Amino acid sequence: MLDPAAQRPVDLAADVRIQGGRIVEIGRGLVAPRIIDVKDLWVVPGLIDLHVHLREPGQEYKEDIETGTRAAAVGGFTTICCMPNTRPVNDQRAVTELIVRRAKEVGCVRVRPIGAITHNLDGKHLADIAEMKEAGIVAISDDGRPVMNSGLVRRAFEYARTFDLPLVQHAEDLDLAEGGSMNEGAVATRIGIKGQPACAESAMVARDLEIVEWTGARYHVAHVSTARTVALIRDAKRRGLPVTCEVTPHHLALTDEACSHYDTRTKVMPPLRTTADQEALLEGLVDGTIDAIATDHAPHSPVEKDVEFECAAPGMLGLETALPIILDFVRMGSLDDKRAIAALTGAPARAFGIPGGSLAIGAVADVTVIDPERPMTLTPETIASKSRNSPFMGQKLAGRAVLTIFEGKVVHDLDSRLR
Ligand code: DOR
Repeated sequence: MLDPAAQRPVDLAADVRIQGGRIVEIGRGLVAPRIIDVKDLWVVPGLIDLHVHLREPGQEYKEDIETGTRAAAVGGFTTICCMPNTRPVNDQRAVTELIVRRAKEVGCVRVRPIGAITHNLDGKHLADIAEMKEAGIVAISDDGRPVMNSGLVRRAFEYARTFDLPLVQHAEDLDLAEGGSMNEGAVATRIGIKGQPACAESAMVARDLEIVEWTGARYHVAHVSTARTVALIRDAKRRGLPVTCEVTPHHLALTDEACSHYDTRTKVMPPLRTTADQEALLEGLVDGTIDAIATDHAPHSPVEKDVEFECAAPGMLGLETALPIILDFVRMGSLDDKRAIAALTGAPARAFGIPGGSLAIGAVADVTVIDPERPMTLTPETIASKSRNSPFMGQKLAGRAVLTIFEGKVVHDLDSRLR
């Protein structure tokens, strides 16, 4: 058992007894009417992903709540937070309620919606945050559309503080980014694609941190991708500001070299960066500057991806490959197993102030069983997501969730252990 947030020893060989959808006992030699033998595997709290695009309502040809939550269960996640850039945008109670209701009907994993900061993501008029909060949002964000207007960001922070919600920023100064499709640097120059500079991200984070200091509101930086952003957040945390952040598996695993062949599956926002950035991200994850690992699972169809690099929509899938990619860093010895699991469980729960992330007695039984060495290859035939836009498609990876238990119910059972 690996439970970094627990009071008991983090690393323990023990039985977990589940009854009535809750964890009721942890210890040796427990008895129960039905036993699932997972000896020698890792039993961890159900994984939590703070950054997922489910595309429902409105773009169900890419993904929907059923396929997206299925992909989450296969990936070992029991809670996912979904971004508001749906159609219509999740900027009002009715849309939040629809997402919550659909997710409950499907019943695969828990979906916690993130509401928009501005109406229709227009960057001008604040959305109906109070009523979305009542309907169940856990944060606000205009993800994919950074909020450029500083005055509006200030008001949004003040509003978010009133409702004790974190404001999640997709940090990209659009004037600095100038519509660049990848990282600005040697690779972009070589292949003739317009890039956007790393400072497009860090400049917005620097601005936001000034406003956080002024307002005292909670700030969460989505998909941190540059060394400079990591340094700014490290400093802000040292100063005691209420700041958290996340990194994606793809920004840890890939650099802009991956774009060399114009493969649109490598086009993401923020873009894949340099080796120096990659190293700083890993260092930030190891020392806790970066709180959480989040996938930014962004399904797209061939309509958006089978086009020229500069015309392609940014985004790649993440839910089904996050674990093996992260476990690769553990295998290489550059990331501790406990830190890796903490960044996928307790730390994201704390960042958004949501329950879960620990195998505590009395807690809802969200449990994931991981085989850290289990080979896995994402293929179009076996993928659970509706989309295919992953640069890891066809690659031999290792480490995966073999069992995912959500509220005491098995929602993913790779080896049919229950039969
Ligand atoms: O790569 C991305 N895709 N970055 C974003 O911020 C938005 C996302 C999407 O919605 O596809």
